[in-house]
Amino acid sequence: MTRSRITGTGMAVPARVVTNDDLAQMMDTSDEWIRQRTGIGERHWITEGETGSGLAEKAARQALAAAELLPANLDAIVCATSSPDHFIPGNGVFIGRQLGIPGVPALDVRQACSGFIYGLAVADAWIRTGLYRRILVVGTELQSTGMDISTEGRHVAVIFADGAGAVILEATEDEDRGFEAFDLHSDGTYAEMLWVDAPGSRYKGRITPEMLEAGRHFLVMDGKEVFRHAVTRMPESVMTVLGKIGKTPADITLLLPHQANLRISEMVQKGLRLRDDQVYNNIQRYGNTTAATIPILLHECVEAGRFKRGDLVVMTAFGSGFSWGSAALRW
Ligand code: UT7
Repeated sequence: MTRSRITGTGMAVPARVVTNDDLAQMMDTSDEWIRQRTGIGERHWITEGETGSGLAEKAARQALAAAELLPANLDAIVCATSSPDHFIPGNGVFIGRQLGIPGVPALDVRQACSGFIYGLAVADAWIRTGLYRRILVVGTELQSTGMDISTEGRHVAVIFADGAGAVILEATEDEDRGFEAFDLHSDGTYAEMLWVDAPGSRYKGRITPEMLEAGRHFLVMDGKEVFRHAVTRMPESVMTVLGKIGKTPADITLLLPHQANLRISEMVQKGLRLRDDQVYNNIQRYGNTTAATIPILLHECVEAGRFKRGDLVVMTAFGSGFSWGSAALRW
């Protein structure tokens, strides 16, 4: 039976580091508040000229090199982003263009924070059915250009950040490794709890000066509601994905939870009764990079030698939609 496995990882973040003290110059906030409420110490924001597809390209080239492949070896691109360079087309085609591989299919996935897990699920299915054998799955996000960085938007602006992460998924005939199960969900009841209202095709002209004035183009979030759902849905989804493969939390080698808030990760860990060494967090250095979070976690763990063959790696994410899900991977 064909399965998919990760053969290379990469990541890229903008060079510009924005500290909590830097944010305190832009809005009424403090290093103490941000650290206590979110665990974040610093994050990366782009400087003008950098793009989400550009960061994705860097991450992709690193992942390709790790997999000992060339761009021309790719059969497909799956790009998870909720902040594409342009309204249309999605970032996938720009990444393909920058990699110099015209003709290779590119699919954009827009499930925000859980987009990378959705993207992995699609790529895994393509590989299992034999459609493709080598797929670039990339998560890339520029949130810094779409946030209200005044005091009014501070609960959002201190969390979200920019970055990209990539993996190469390849077909394997090994029965004891690769992706073993996915669990995916969404519930549009809560769409407005974390969203960007405009530009939107339902509005004539897509966006008007009045809408801009009202800040309807900014990322808006009801933090408390999102928090409440996140700490319930992620553990629930991890239990479901483990159930599909007959495992329990005790069997997890490493859980990679979406990095939205360190307090959320700690509650997920507690809910699943996991030891500290079973969970990896890096929000302290990157903030919440939406769809890029999970592949950045994966890349850092690979670089740090945290995975060995046979380890059970579980990823879980929750975000806008709401949409959420988990993946179980035998390394
Ligand atoms: O990526 C996936 C989705 N995202 C998430 O999962 C994020 C989930 N939500 C959260 O992480 C938290 O709700 C936040 C960190 C965003 C906010 O923390 P909170 O503890 O829920 O704060 P809050 O928004 O309820 O605000 C509490 C107080 C308010 O002041 P008053 O009304 O009590 O005087 C806010 O105005 O903290 C104030 N506040 C801030 N103060 C300083 C909110 N943001 C800030 C800030 N600096 N950045």
